[in-house]
Formats: sequence, structure tokens, C-alpha cells
Amino acid sequence: MAARKVKGTYDVLPSESHAWHALEEKIRFILGLYNMKEIRTPILEYSEVFHRDSEASDMVTKETYDFDDRSQRKLTLRPEGTAGVIRSYVENKLYASQELEKVYYLGPNFRYERPQKGRYRQFYQFGVEAIGGIDPALDAEMIILSYDFIKRLGLKGVRVRLNTLGDDSSRAAYQKALETHFLPVKDELCADCQRRITKNPLRILDCKVDQDHPAMINAPVTRDYLNAESKAYFETVLEYINAAKISYEISPRLVRGLDYYSHTVFEIEADIEGFGAQNILGGGGRYQKLVKELGGPDLGGIGFAFGMERLLLALEAENIDFWTEPALDAYIIVSSDRLKADAVKILYDLRKADIVSDMNYMNKSFKAQLKHALRLNARYLVILGDDEYERGMVAIKDTKTETQEDVLLQRVERYLIEKMGEQR
Ligand code: HAM
Repeated sequence: MAARKVKGTYDVLPSESHAWHALEEKIRFILGLYNMKEIRTPILEYSEVFHRDSEASDMVTKETYDFDDRSQRKLTLRPEGTAGVIRSYVENKLYASQELEKVYYLGPNFRYERPQKGRYRQFYQFGVEAIGGIDPALDAEMIILSYDFIKRLGLKGVRVRLNTLGDDSSRAAYQKALETHFLPVKDELCADCQRRITKNPLRILDCKVDQDHPAMINAPVTRDYLNAESKAYFETVLEYINAAKISYEISPRLVRGLDYYSHTVFEIEADIEGFGAQNILGGGGRYQKLVKELGGPDLGGIGFAFGMERLLLALEAENIDFWTEPALDAYIIVSSDRLKADAVKILYDLRKADIVSDMNYMNKSFKAQLKHALRLNARYLVILGDDEYERGMVAIKDTKTETQEDVLLQRVERYLIEKMGEQR
């Protein structure tokens, strides 16, 4: 049987990986500007890190990869980054040394979803978390950062949508309103939503089955159930965002698909043809109970995450590429096997001098080596020919200017350094 990849996964092929590197580099650069440091947490966590609530979102109840290890420990492949980061924050007592911890992360996550374009079972996210307190300026920073990020990528058809769920009591009032609103039409909703009405009515709003039901369209909006403090908090967030003059929309029914949020929530949505529901490039929000739920002090946090595959698809759709395939500076060609030892030595010297170089390893003919070098787009061909070799020389050809010079064997590295210096 021919081996095949697991459903919902994909390979990043050698010709594609430089786009990932360029995006990752950009991410690290931008997050550095916001004074964030990287945190790397395990992909495997004890299941309890994610399974904290039996009436949680689908993502946590139905989509996780859960299994027992060989010692019957219950483990889960992380479906998202936030819970693991908070677990680490608490376990390493990061709150003891730093009042506010601003971190970012980048890596694979796993969700057992129906695969389609922009939706995979293994997917990459980059995300950030600012943990340790509550300050509307921090909420504003997260939204401004998301906006700044998509602008710096050059993406145009992208909207930032935001909303607030308010504090616990506002959220409870809103949940009650949703319950009252959906109860009369309970029988028309899917089995999951029927259960959610009394257990977790917020989740009805992001149900994929009932999304076109008329009761969804005129469902209550969060704004009408905010208490005075929550309203004031959100207004201050807006005041700060307005000061930065970024554009955004208020989406009064945006609640996000995870359960840990309160106060500010936001999503970054792209207008991409053929993307369907996969057009949400990123999202996040404030969480006030997660740190405590995972055994830490009573501290809040806020963060967001973007899907890397969706970002790359969006860049492709808008014809943006800020990466070029890494170029090959030099390629060594030998006319006979007896010159191969010299080729190995030259290659080692060139690489020590940071010159990107390669040679042929498959004992190909002179012509085939030449063809390979041109296919690889090598700028210089270092040709070790028998005749030149007798004179202690090699021929170096510049494939761009189509000029060729004989160079002393010992001077190859120096010659190329000088030539490449002239180009810069
Ligand atoms: P999320 O909305 O579940 O939030 O995921 C964030 C982003 O990850 C989505 O907007 C999407 O781009 C990408 N994504 C999610 N599922 C898939 C999938 N199956 N295939 C491809 N891409 C996907 C979170 O994960 C939160 N932890 C964000 C957060 C951080 N909130 C606070 N801090």
C-alpha cells in the first residue's frame, strides 16, 4: 500500500517553504515591535487543560484529538494555543516576576473538523497573549496590532470586526435574553442548539447548522445587556482605538466560538472569493477567568490568533508575495571524477565564506551538470576542466553577463566575494 498523508493534513513542499519562512520572519519582526517575546509550549497537554467545561464549544467537546498514552494518561493534541500558554504561565509562576507578560507563539494545532480549503485538521497559528491584568489600552493594543499586521502584509480586502460581551453579570444577562429569545422556537433548532438553550445559549450564535434560521437574524445584541462598567470599559477601548485612527466595524452579535471570553472580542475577516466561512483570518478577545481556572491567581488576559494557511491563501488571492526564492550564488561543475576532491574543497571554502553554493552528486555528464546549474538559477558557474586544471586554474562564468574568466584555483573564493560585493 502506498503511504498517504492523514486526511485534513498537508505537506509544505521544498518549493513552498520559503513563503512560510518569509511570513514567519515578518510575524517575528512585527511582534518584536510590540515588545513581545516568544513562548514555546508542548503540542501535547493533559486533556484537562482544554476540557474544563462539559457544555463548552464544539471545538473543545467534539473536535479535539484525545487519546490515552501507554500509561493511560489522558492527553490531547492542542486545538489552540491560549490554554497551553496559560497553563505554562501558571505552572512557571510567570506572574511572580512580571506584572504583565506579553508573549507570542507559532505552531501546529489539531482540530477534527471537516477539511476544506482553508480548514484543516492540522493547521498552524501564530498568536499572542498579554496576561496579568485588565486595562482597556491593552485591548486597544491587541486590535491595533491585528490591524497593523494585516496592513503590513499588504492585504486590502480585510475588515476588523469587534464587539464586547461585557463582564460576568452582563454576559449572564445576555445569555438569559438569548434563552428567552430562542425558547419559543426550540423545536425548529438542531439537537445541539436545543440543549444549548439552557446550558450555553451563546454557542447558538455560532452554530453552523442553524445559522440561517430567522431567529438568528433578529437575536438580541450584547450592547443592550451591558451594565454601566462594561459599557464604560468598551467605550474607553473604542476611544483608544479611535486615537490610533484605524478602521473597524462593530458587530453586535459577534461572540466568538470559544467559551473563555468576556469584554472585548474581535475578528479579522477577509473578502476572498470562494472562501466561504473560512474567511476569518484571525480572532481573539479578553479572558478573565482562564488563569484562575487553570490554578493560577485571579488575573485576566487578552490575546488573538491568526491561521497561517488562511493568511497565505489571502496573500495568494491578492497576488502579494514579499518573498523571493533563495538564489544559488555558485555551482561547481567538474569535467572528470579526478577533480571531484578539489570541488569538495572549493565548496567547503565557499560555504565558509557564506556563499550559497552546490555541486552535482550523481556523476552526471558535463552537459547535464550545466543544465542542472542553469535550472537552479546559479549566478556563477565554477568550472573545473581538465585543461585549465593542468594550469592550476578554473573557469568562472557569470550566467547573467555571459562573461567568463580564468581564475587561479586558490583565488576562487576571493574572486567570488569581490564579484558579489560589486553586485551589492
Ligand atoms: P480561533 O478563532 O479558534 O481562536 O482560531 C484563530 C484562527 O485560527 C482562525 O481565525 C483561523 O484563521 C485559524 N483556524 C482555526 N481553525 C482552523 C482550521 N481547522 N484550519 C485552518 N485554520 C484554522 C483561537 O484559537 C484562540 N486561541 C485565539 C485567542 C488567543 N483568543 C485569545 N487569545
